[in-house]
Amino acid sequence: MGNTDKFLSIRNLNVEYTSGGDVIYAVNGLSLDLERGKSLGLVGETGAGKTTVAKAILRVLPTPPAGIKGGEIFLDGEDILKKPEDKMLDIRGRRISMIFQDPMTALNPTMKIGDQIAEIVRLHSDDSPHEVKHRAMDMLNRVGIMADRFNDYPYQLSGGMKQRVIIAMALVFRPELLLADEPTTALDVTIQAQVLEIIRHFKQKFNSSMILITHDLGIVAENCDTVAVIYAGQIVEYGSLEDVFDRPSHPYTVGLFHSLPGFAVGEARLHPIGGSLPDPRVHAAGCSFYPRCPRAADGCAAGEVPNRELSPGHFCRCLCPEV
Ligand SMILES: Nc1ncnc2c1ncn2[C@@H]1O[C@H](COP(=O)(O)OP(=O)(O)O)[C@@H](O)[C@H]1O
Ligand code: SF4
Ligand SMILES: [Mg+2]
Repeated sequence: MGNTDKFLSIRNLNVEYTSGGDVIYAVNGLSLDLERGKSLGLVGETGAGKTTVAKAILRVLPTPPAGIKGGEIFLDGEDILKKPEDKMLDIRGRRISMIFQDPMTALNPTMKIGDQIAEIVRLHSDDSPHEVKHRAMDMLNRVGIMADRFNDYPYQLSGGMKQRVIIAMALVFRPELLLADEPTTALDVTIQAQVLEIIRHFKQKFNSSMILITHDLGIVAENCDTVAVIYAGQIVEYGSLEDVFDRPSHPYTVGLFHSLPGFAVGEARLHPIGGSLPDPRVHAAGCSFYPRCPRAADGCAAGEVPNRELSPGHFCRCLCPEV
């Protein structure tokens, strides 16, 4: 992850929250690259920092309690953390858009769904009222919702349909970068597949890049080109889908695969990873996975753990990776 000529390059990002007098170290020196038109799966357990990273890219972190304490986020070579808010208004929704984790908060319950899409078009374009409505209807149609539902309120729609409306809102301006934060977690399996198919279709059509946040490795396998495994606000393993799925090297990644039926590598038994994420209020020295790691050695508890390139483009932050 050396160069910054990629479409999206995050360098050494640090984000903290202040809460009840405590500092929560949510993102700790995180670096990531994404090429144009490609999909990156950002995988890790709840609390690892995934949503914080996505909101930092879109610059919608609530400040306070959140604060970006360092780092750079380059979009096409320009550091968007340095952009004034009026420039961000332009970027948000047009160049970068996000499907938020909680579908219920993404829709306004008191507003017709068609108007919610139209509102976004109005905000970001000079289209006439007629054109705005036409564009909103067209977008609804494209996600498989008939135009006669334009005047429905969110409560009149099923969970899957609500998520389609949210996708329509996120994609109406053909964003160059889509941040999809657990876009199907709240849906049942059949609807999940339909929603992912819609996202895949648009992504391909617009050549958008995507960060797909999920804890479901099956979804990553079907939708992503590269994978980043996040633990305690750091990327611990990064590489192509083949690198990470065929040669998982960080003990945490190996643990994620071992805890999944049908994905187990090596000994084909299920081993859920014991323990939980470290206390995010503590900035401990050494490897953050040390207390849970089956390969932990004496040297792991102190000092910086280097991010090694195991093979071209395959990185692992571990002193004793599985190779
Ligand atoms: N608004 C907030 N105030 C305080 N702490 C927060 C807030 N949002 C997230 N955090 C903390 O930041 C860390 C990362 O959270 P988050 O980015 O939501 O992780 P993920 O999306 O991977 O579940 C967690 O320790 C979480 O408790
Ligand atoms: S550095 Fe040590 S403790 Fe950390 S993941 Fe690697 S082997 Fe485990
Ligand atoms: Mg989250």
